[in-house]
Amino acid sequence: MKRTQIKTIGILTAGGDCPGLNAVIRAVTKAAINDYGIKVVGFKDGYDGLIRNETRVLASIDVSGILTVGGTILGTSNVANPYKYAGENNGKLVMRDVSAQAIANYKRHGLDALVVIGGDGTLSVAAKLVKDGLNIVGVPKTIDNDLSETEYTFGFESAVATATEALDKLHSTAQSHHRVMILEVMGRYAGWIALYSGIAGGGDVILIPEIPYSVKAICRKIEERRRHGKRFSIIVVAEGAKPKGGTVTVSRIVEKSFDKVRLGGVANRIGEAIEKATCVETRATILGHVQRGGSPTPFDRILATRYGNAALDLVLKGKFGRMVALQKGRMTDVPIHKAVGKLKLVPRNSPLIKMSESLGVGFGR
Ligand code: F6P
Repeated sequence: MKRTQIKTIGILTAGGDCPGLNAVIRAVTKAAINDYGIKVVGFKDGYDGLIRNETRVLASIDVSGILTVGGTILGTSNVANPYKYAGENNGKLVMRDVSAQAIANYKRHGLDALVVIGGDGTLSVAAKLVKDGLNIVGVPKTIDNDLSETEYTFGFESAVATATEALDKLHSTAQSHHRVMILEVMGRYAGWIALYSGIAGGGDVILIPEIPYSVKAICRKIEERRRHGKRFSIIVVAEGAKPKGGTVTVSRIVEKSFDKVRLGGVANRIGEAIEKATCVETRATILGHVQRGGSPTPFDRILATRYGNAALDLVLKGKFGRMVALQKGRMTDVPIHKAVGKLKLVPRNSPLIKMSESLGVGFGR
């Protein structure tokens, strides 16, 4: 057993789930217990567990066999926030600051550190808890890949693989029926999933939030293809894509959530407009949460394991208030507050966009 001053650590997964969360939990827990004899306390359902003191002590056996399993064995919540915790008063929704309760629970377990695995919303809360005195190490997660300061978040590659498989399937049916097929993928503010899966799946038009689209430009591309004898077209659209001068397509509002707005349905909106303008039969598929489920790809398993390992390393070195990050292919760390609040969007002059345009792909501009 190696020596360390660290006796007990906590771990939680918060925000939307994604493939690879379990791989991080496994990497942190196995090395903490087996190499250092550290006690690992898992908080259930993200910050909800920290606020309500819902925990389970993790043993080595608990994290065996979970590397390949999607979701999170700890559960998650994308609504629980210690600084804005939803409650009821006379039937009305009220938001309360229960951070003192969360901090008391951290102390109750005698934690030397807490590993927080999450995206922008989760890590913004973590940055506040750091200011309030907690020893936190962050691990970047989101299928959207929109966290700054890190090249890739785990979960992204798995989501791209799922979206690409869907595109491959849509391709054959689009071809048979001479239709326009639209696949809507996730990506609220950033179009990384649409861009990557669109390139990998041979999309003819890729629509991302960073480039507002014009239906005219999309139809021009479809008609140009038909003139060249290609009677079908494949469109990949990020849920956060919006028309020039227009707004995103909202599917629901979750009042209790960090980020209340849930998007969805832009594919239907575009499909109707295309049919009207071109008379080409068009169908829309909304891929939704399928992208967040299932087993992580080998890349994500490795990335998540590297993140988990690096996070424990930061804990052992007492480097708190930092998030592990991938930069130039290497593990490094950055202050958590630097990684949040500013999203990593697809640059409009991205070499991937330039390359795609040179292959004839349209971006609706
Ligand atoms: O942030 C990850 C994400 O999957 C987004 O791409 C998507 O807009 C959102 O979460 C969906 O959230 P929910 O699971 O609440 O529907």
